[in-house]
Amino acid sequence: MTNLRDHLDSIRDRLPISVVIAPYVALKKRGKVLIGLCPFHNEKGPSFNVNDEKGFYHCFGCGAHGDHFSFLTEKTHAPFMDAVEILTKQAGLTMPRFEKENDQQTHDDAKDAKEVLYNINEVACLYFEEQLRVPDFQTIRDYLKNRGMSGQVAAKFRLGYAPARGLVSVLRQRGFRDEDGVASGLLIRSDDGHVYERFRDRVMFPIQDSRGRVIAFGGRITSAGEPKYLNSPETSLFHKGRQLYAHNMAVSTVRSGQQFVVVEGYMDVIALFQAGITVAVAPLGTALTAEQIVLMWRTCKNPILCFDGDNAGRKAAQRAAMVALEILKPGFTIEFSFMVAGEDPDSFLKKNSSADMRDLLRHTTPLTDVLWRVFMDGRNVSKPEDKAKARQDLVQLSYKINDPEVRYFYLQDLNEKLQRAMAQKIKGNMQAQKVLIHQGVRPDLVKKITDGQKILLATLINHPILLSDVAEQLMSLEIMDEKLDVIRNFLLDISGEDHHKYNNIVSLLREAGYGDFVDQEMTQGLYIKARFAHTSSEIDQARSGWQEIWQFLERNSQLKNAADEVSLELKTELNQRSWQSLQSVKRQQAGLI
Ligand code: UTP
Ligand code: MN
Repeated sequence: MTNLRDHLDSIRDRLPISVVIAPYVALKKRGKVLIGLCPFHNEKGPSFNVNDEKGFYHCFGCGAHGDHFSFLTEKTHAPFMDAVEILTKQAGLTMPRFEKENDQQTHDDAKDAKEVLYNINEVACLYFEEQLRVPDFQTIRDYLKNRGMSGQVAAKFRLGYAPARGLVSVLRQRGFRDEDGVASGLLIRSDDGHVYERFRDRVMFPIQDSRGRVIAFGGRITSAGEPKYLNSPETSLFHKGRQLYAHNMAVSTVRSGQQFVVVEGYMDVIALFQAGITVAVAPLGTALTAEQIVLMWRTCKNPILCFDGDNAGRKAAQRAAMVALEILKPGFTIEFSFMVAGEDPDSFLKKNSSADMRDLLRHTTPLTDVLWRVFMDGRNVSKPEDKAKARQDLVQLSYKINDPEVRYFYLQDLNEKLQRAMAQKIKGNMQAQKVLIHQGVRPDLVKKITDGQKILLATLINHPILLSDVAEQLMSLEIMDEKLDVIRNFLLDISGEDHHKYNNIVSLLREAGYGDFVDQEMTQGLYIKARFAHTSSEIDQARSGWQEIWQFLERNSQLKNAADEVSLELKTELNQRSWQSLQSVKRQQAGLI
């Protein structure tokens, strides 16, 4: 009995790969390799390389890559073992009987079937990691680099790249059956029996179980397209509702006494780790489940759920709160942390320090406060009937809690909140708070913001070539001054048009009736503040100066949103925490001057 892999090696040793390929492709010698027109895609110039010494082919046009066996199976759609038989003959060998007993990868009972899936996932993971080092895929490395990811962290999370094709042949070469590849979720069998890769041209995030074994993958597209993330399907190893991304890594820090932080995305987990916050986990493409909360409770009695500060984040927090209610038990809960609107932890950390992030995570909102907000949303408690209804609904809500002890105290706590709201004490205090909030925006900061916006516009008028790069950032600016807003829109319109317009942008402005901006704002005073804005400065200086000012404005508008959020919170509820967060936001705003 022979081991299949050994047999494949003997074929490779005896049979040059060019002999296998020659019937299908006219090959010409060039240096050490042979080249021809790629049989896997349409092309005019030869980019298909065959390397006899190393025993592989590679197409620089379409990325097709593989060995003797993958070539034949891909070209003829023959089943793998048929290809082996054909090539065995061609190599002058005889087809042996392959051992099954000692070859783990072909074992058939249930436990070993799982073992095979672990092996396939590991082989695939190694292969994807290796692809990330292939010279051809510089753009993928650039993608990760542009997202701010360090090589070290990418390696720690075992990030990889799945090219358009390749895994099918890799798995075959390693002796795996196509069925097992399909069972692992990595391969898909089409209706005509053809087997192909599920993940094509995606950055790969391996998902590991609590013992660090790779059990599935999430794959992110690096350009526009749908879906943004593709995940492995459920398999006998991968249960989306029961496992958490990075749980195996976060758990050791959590054991030392820290709280889990649940974020929405894989990239958020990684960004947090990179910032030294090594307690982050994420659900696996679905909403957080009760099982996942229970999993965290094994090591942490109060995990923090970190959500986006916008509406979607609020909805997700509500959903999570309702899930948690049913399973609450004495001593165990979840806490909430809300990001500023429009940011996730990854984007937040691009603009803020990890100390800021830690600060945000320190000021959590307890579950009972989140429930209270949900409960009061759109509710009026001034008329007696409304009060009665509120009390009734509150009791009903508390009955979602299965544990009687916890239910009792929740009812008590929510009831107190309701009493306070009904007494309308909040309204009176709110007026005083509001005044404070508005006083918080200092006039010198307002001036600095408008100045910054004028500089941004002037820079673009003088260096219109920057327009296409920064159009999106320009669009996102919160411009209050109507006159400036008009100029911004004018520039945005132009950015989509022919470059020849750039030559006479000032006259176009005048024609459109916006000459005032040029005459009154683009003056010596502005250039003293921002030399880079002037026509005479180098484009690189203009670019980096522009970015610096934009960052400042962005940071400011984030803080303003945060202040708005808190003041909204103060409307429904006045507590120590929201008051403190408001103070903290105001301190940070003051820091900008
Ligand atoms: P988001 O759409 O919030 O993306 O998805 P993100 O995490 O900010 O990703 P980047 O920063 O653009 O790379 C959050 C999570 O939802 C799941 C993934 O688990 C993702 O990490 N998701 C998202 C999917 O499963 N499929 C999708 O198409 C999109
Ligand atoms: Mn993101």
